[in-house]
Amino acid sequence: MKISNMKSTSLKEWRLLPGLTRAGKEIILKTKIAKGFSINIPFISSSMQAVTGSRMAIALAKQGGIGIIFTSQSIKEEAEMVRKVKSYKAGFIENPLTVKPETKVKELKRINEVTGYSTFPVTINGDPKGVYKGLITAEDFVLEDDDKKAIELIINNKKFIDRNVTFNEARNHLKEFRQKCLPIVINGKLKSLVFRKDILDEKNYPLQLIDKQKRLMVGAAVNTHDYENRVKALVDAGVDLLVIDSSDGFSEYQKRTINFIKKNHPGIPLIGGNVVSSEGFNFLVNAGVDGVKIGMGIGSTCITQEVKGVGRGQATTIMRCRKARDDLYEKTGDYHPLISDGGVSTSKDIIIALALGADAVMMGRYFTGFDESPTRIIERGGNKYKPFWGEGSNKAKNWQRYNKSISQFIEEGVEGYVPYAGRLEDGVKKALLTITSAMNNVGSCNIKELHELAHLEYVTGGALKEGMAHDLKLEL
Ligand code: IMP
Repeated sequence: MKISNMKSTSLKEWRLLPGLTRAGKEIILKTKIAKGFSINIPFISSSMQAVTGSRMAIALAKQGGIGIIFTSQSIKEEAEMVRKVKSYKAGFIENPLTVKPETKVKELKRINEVTGYSTFPVTINGDPKGVYKGLITAEDFVLEDDDKKAIELIINNKKFIDRNVTFNEARNHLKEFRQKCLPIVINGKLKSLVFRKDILDEKNYPLQLIDKQKRLMVGAAVNTHDYENRVKALVDAGVDLLVIDSSDGFSEYQKRTINFIKKNHPGIPLIGGNVVSSEGFNFLVNAGVDGVKIGMGIGSTCITQEVKGVGRGQATTIMRCRKARDDLYEKTGDYHPLISDGGVSTSKDIIIALALGADAVMMGRYFTGFDESPTRIIERGGNKYKPFWGEGSNKAKNWQRYNKSISQFIEEGVEGYVPYAGRLEDGVKKALLTITSAMNNVGSCNIKELHELAHLEYVTGGALKEGMAHDLKLEL
């Protein structure tokens, strides 16, 4: 028996002391999450059904982070989600909402009201890839009094382009034609639409995470069961990063998976996990991973500690693994980044995780509340929520995450709701402001400096209380 003399502490129990704030220094949040793989902000969205589909991955990559597509779905479906992110071209909309030439003005007004869209390509049979007949915009139909008129009679002959164009060419054509929208038509058939507002994306998203071909980057999770076929399909779909999704990565199953991936797909950065100790960290590094994901029993939907008594406070996990990472780096010069996975409720938890030594954070609860997560908004008592469930819940049926067979599966996750949080872009921007402000307090200009300069103190219950608003009525 081994008894640890270290207390298990959470992210909520540590505070940073201010260091010397430096004047006029720019703060850069770019960080490594695997050997040879960096992201522009230290945010990763969890591979969970309720968190990361292609829409989330696109929105987060635009902000500079990376989404990890969930693996508890068929290989085909997961690969399709990866493909969707990789084929997303800022500005080029494929398969837009299309209408038929015979559609009546009344019907178009109704579609406009329901969807909020005001520009529609018109094609034979309304097929999004069909023969192109023209473009109709709100300016053409909202003031039309004759609701029974077929829209082909009021189509405004907007200019279009009849060849494939690059991003810059599309921008120039839009400028030259003074149009809000430019249809791209190949061999008479509609290919895509380019909107002026989307073309500004490059300016709007200076940190977006893109590959050499200017495609957004995306990660995908794999399990320790069907990895041989799954990894191949994900690589074929263009995945940029693989993450092994397992509640306990200190296992021979995981080692087997790592060996296979590294042997057959050596070019793809691989993150293993989850572990919570220096032994677990060294095990995964020796097995060949490029980055290590840490945390067990602390996710917001997680009941592993309650059910099985296994797990560790996230602050302690980071401290132990950080020491192992830094010792190894000193000895060998090899840096294996740490991703702190789970337990974040607010921006303050993110900054504490980074200060304790994490290179980035993976978050489920934080991201699931945004518009871009795969779930629908629910209204109760005048408030908006989004449903959230753990990968270890019966709802997710992700038994592969637990190194088990389906008959041995015990529930280690719950279902619930989180407050709706609006657009990811707004939430992430706010969180980044908070993080950079705290880094300013510490006097650090980047995450490496934060690791070096952070001075943390454990807080007592009294200090914790004192650190919140107190002794006043917040409402009358
Ligand atoms: P959160 O940010 O606190 O919601 O934690 C998200 C993390 O919880 C995920 O990235 C997973 O590592 C972990 N997780 C997801 N589902 C479950 C579950 O059902 N039980 C335990 N942990 C889970």
